[in-house]
Amino acid sequence: MKKIKSGVYGLNPLLDGGINQGSTTVVIGCAGAGKTTFATQFIRRGLENGQEGIFVSLDENKEQIVKEAVEMGWGEILEYIDDGLLVFIDASGKDFSRFIKEELPGFVDEWKGADARIVVDPLTPVIWAVEDRYMQRDLLSFMFKQMRRVGTVVCTLEEHSSAGDLSGEEVVIPMYLADTVIHLRYRLAEPGLERMLKVAKCRSSRHSEHYHPYRILRGFGIVVERGDRETPPPRDRTEEIKALLARKRGEIPQAIYRRIHKSLDYVTDQDLGDLTPEEVVEAVLDEYMPEEKVGPKAGTPRPTPRASRSGRRR
Ligand SMILES: Nc1ncnc2c1ncn2[C@@H]1O[C@H](COP(=O)(O)OP(=O)(O)OP(=O)(O)O)[C@@H](O)[C@H]1O
Ligand SMILES: [Mg+2]
Repeated sequence: MKKIKSGVYGLNPLLDGGINQGSTTVVIGCAGAGKTTFATQFIRRGLENGQEGIFVSLDENKEQIVKEAVEMGWGEILEYIDDGLLVFIDASGKDFSRFIKEELPGFVDEWKGADARIVVDPLTPVIWAVEDRYMQRDLLSFMFKQMRRVGTVVCTLEEHSSAGDLSGEEVVIPMYLADTVIHLRYRLAEPGLERMLKVAKCRSSRHSEHYHPYRILRGFGIVVERGDRETPPPRDRTEEIKALLARKRGEIPQAIYRRIHKSLDYVTDQDLGDLTPEEVVEAVLDEYMPEEKVGPKAGTPRPTPRASRSGRRR
């Protein structure tokens, strides 16, 4: 099973090295848990290596998603759109059942074998579009199978059960059908433990079975803590992170070094919560290293999107 880096800092070790290539992952969480952030990080990670990204939005429009990404400090997303490397499919307001059965196969035929990263954010309207449970399963299974022909898929799913423990009716069928299930638990009532991530399932992998605290940091996005800390974290950590990185500068390709440094411009000490500098540096380096040359600036030319594909851009 080939693993690809998730783009979510600190997550890969919990997934036995990363996300299985060509698989379907469902990320479940309530409002504000970080689902769109997760999805954007996943797609952005592929774009950095010249891998195409397809963002299927069933809810928010493209402008809103791009705006949020730019606010997060990921302004380069605009260049990927210009290059045709990142495409959006806005299916909001459509008849999802018809969209999946009639429009999706044509799209897949055009993109099959592209090894792209595909995001559906959120999948929830598809589930609500079909009342009958059997048909729901049928439709989702068809959709997942189709999309996997194009590449590696991440779908987000809203959690509406107030228990926040994956017991909601709306998550059952997608959880069964997905290869990997990640739960972003977000409970405001538990200070210090508000945000916890758990890998609920990961086929063909020895994965973590614990809840791990995570933070959402401007510039980086989601950073998952290892959760095995004994001493409280020190102050002035952003400076310390920079110092730690500077010490490793010789080992880090220049493009990656610049990228990490840029992310640090957005982070404050307060944002870092309980994260230690070592933890951040380790999670970030684990995401990027060891790796051949990364990104177009490091020497790998960006693939030119196929003419037929760019013709389909919306
Ligand atoms: N630019 C930013 N800077 C700092 N934190 C941010 C930024 N953007 C988002 N966040 C944090 O990430 C959280 C989750 O955002 P995100 O949109 O990913 O959640 P979501 O699970 O997709 O929510 P929804 O269900 O409403 O779509 C926000 O509530 C906020 O705490
Ligand atoms: Mg969202």
